[in-house]
Order: sequence, then structure tokens, then C-alpha cells
Amino acid sequence: MNTVRWGIVGTGAIAHGVAGDFQFVPGAELTAVASRTRSKAQAFATKHGVPRAYGSYAEMLQADDIDVVYIATPHPQHRDVALSAIANGKAVLVEKAFTATLDGARQIVKAARENGVFAMEAMWTRFLPVVAAAREVVAWGRIGDVVSVQGDLYAYREFQPEHRLFAKELGGGAILDLGVYVVNFAQAFLGDVKSVDCITRLYPSGVDSAANISLAHTGGGLSSLAVGFDGHGPGRMAIIGTKGWIEVEPRFHHPSMITIHRNGVLPRIIEAMPTGRGYSHEFAEVTQRIREGHTESPTMPLEDTLEVMRVLESCLRQAGIKHCDAELTLV
Ligand SMILES: NC(=O)c1ccc[n+]([C@@H]2O[C@H](COP(=O)([O-])OP(=O)(O)OC[C@H]3O[C@@H](n4cnc5c(N)ncnc54)[C@H](OP(=O)(O)O)[C@@H]3O)[C@@H](O)[C@H]2O)c1
Repeated sequence: MNTVRWGIVGTGAIAHGVAGDFQFVPGAELTAVASRTRSKAQAFATKHGVPRAYGSYAEMLQADDIDVVYIATPHPQHRDVALSAIANGKAVLVEKAFTATLDGARQIVKAARENGVFAMEAMWTRFLPVVAAAREVVAWGRIGDVVSVQGDLYAYREFQPEHRLFAKELGGGAILDLGVYVVNFAQAFLGDVKSVDCITRLYPSGVDSAANISLAHTGGGLSSLAVGFDGHGPGRMAIIGTKGWIEVEPRFHHPSMITIHRNGVLPRIIEAMPTGRGYSHEFAEVTQRIREGHTESPTMPLEDTLEVMRVLESCLRQAGIKHCDAELTLV
């Protein structure tokens, strides 16, 4: 396969945010966009120079000349769009949180594996150059054994009950939207989790406005993480090792600088700017993997996505919140 042809599902904030990054991805072509509303698809296509606009998701998911779809709907609307794409032989890049439930995530993973189709969670942070550098610093043993990950992602948002960040039926709440970043980061550096402790504050809409998450990892590491929509916070992250630590400079989910602190040595700074708005790196990964006939990314494997979803669901259970994946009719 030479050119990998992409279709975007949904024309909301992140779809507009990422569209310009396809120009930086070798071998990728943004071919189509689908909306539930034809005029929105058309407006998106005109704005971003996308050749084709579909007024229904199903129509694009069935098109012969699309290889991979980027799913940019609210979390509960990820599962059924992904399942339909996979059933039509399309690869999927699914926005974070991967789904609204662990069961929904398992269904996507099962379908992708059974159909031999590429699938990945759009956790762009893992693909940013400076995060890759942090992984190398750790792999070289520069900070010794990693024993802890500590950080926050506070991102203040005015409470608007109908907005997807706060509405229960749209998968609202800080755990799924922001918790996914901190838990994913901790899992990337400390591995799977054996116990989860989560305390939360809730909005009147019944979803969480903030959460403190403590994780004990199976390898012995401990993570201390905090997220919230109801306060302003730095978005710092530290990777703590037996010989030093790495400070991931704010905001850690899209950083361009890390500082490495080691006992008795002056701090060392590594800077690496992302290309475009930072989404090009995950698109490049997916494009390359599909061209090479792979069905997963070793940097963001599906088992890691399932583990993160398991932790998030445990947090939600402790908060007394039960989300659902929406039943969609995609014909
Ligand atoms: N990686 C990142 O940096 C990042 C940043 C923001 C968001 N995200 C993720 O991307 C996803 C979308 O977030 P967003 O902020 O772009 O949301 P948004 O602005 O609300 O847009 C979501 C889009 O999904 C479509 N949609 C399908 N069913 C819907 C429903 N029942 N209600 C509302 N919209 C529906 C709509 O497009 P049509 O009307 O065109 O069908 C809508 O414009 C979320 O999973 C979020 O976590 C990722």
C-alpha cells in the first residue's frame, strides 16, 4: 500500500484541531470527513481542503477508498462507530478515552483482532518526540529504576450541563477525559496496576469534577495522580527513579521539554518540538503501521488501552458513576 487514505468521523473541536496535521504525515492523505449533518461535513471539507464530505457516518464507513478512520465523537459514540468501521475492513484510530466502558473497549479489541484490522487509541502523548526521549532516558538507566509517577492534569472548564465534558449521557467527567492522560502516562512508565484508590468531587450532573487517583503497580511502583475541571493547575508530571527523576515540563500531555535530574550532576534539559500541533506523530505511527501490514502499535498497544480502561472504570465505580456506550444505528 502506498498512500494511506484517512477519513474523519465527527466534525467537533478535536476534528478541527487535528485536520491540519495530516500535511506533515508522509504517505497519508486526508480523503474524507463524515458528519451526521451534511452541511457540517461540507463546511469542514471546505475549511480544511478535504476532497469528500459525507452526510452520514455509515456512508463513509462503507466507502471503498478509505483505509483508516479517525473517530472524533464523544466517548460513548466511539464503540459502535469503531465496530462498524472494523466490520467494513477499515483500520481505526479511536480518540481517548477509547470508550465509555471497559466492556466497550474489549468489544473493539476483539473485533479488530478477529478481523485482522489495525486499531489504536489516539493517545498522542506517547508519540511526542520528547516523551519518546524520556522513555530512552529511562531505558538507558539514567534515573535508575522507576519507582513512582506523580502528576496532575487540572484543566479549568466552566460548568455547562449540556456540554460533553459534563453531561452524563455524553460520557462527561474528569476521569474519562483527563484521568485517561495521567493513568496512561503512569501505565507507560510503571506497567499494569494491582490496586486503585480514587476519591472524587462531583458536579450536580452526577459526573466527577475532580479525582485523586493512587495506583499500586504490579511491579511495585506507586503513582499519585490528580485531575479536575474545577480548578486551574500546572499539568506537571514527574517520573521518579532510584537515581534521579525526570520532570516533564507542563503541560505534560503535550510537552516539548523534559529536565533530567540526577544525584550530583547538573540538571540536563532535552527539548524537542512536536511537528504541527503534535497530532502528526500519532498519525504517522498509524500510517506507517498500516503500510507495513501491522495490526497494532508497539508504542500504544491495545493491551495497554484495556489496562487503562480497567483502571478508569475502577475509579468510576468507586465514585458511584456508571457510564454506557451508546447504541448507534449505523446503516
Ligand atoms: N487528543 C486530544 O487532544 C483531544 C482533545 C479534545 C477531545 N479529544 C477527544 O475527542 C473526542 C471528541 O471531543 P471534542 O472535544 O472534539 O467533542 P465535540 O466538540 O463535542 O465534538 C464531537 C463531535 O462528535 C459528533 N457526535 C456524534 N454523536 C454525537 C452526540 N450524540 N453528541 C454530540 N456530538 C456527537 C459531532 O460531530 P457531527 O455533528 O459532525 O456528527 C460532534 O461535533 C472525545 O472522545 C475527546 O476525549 C481529544
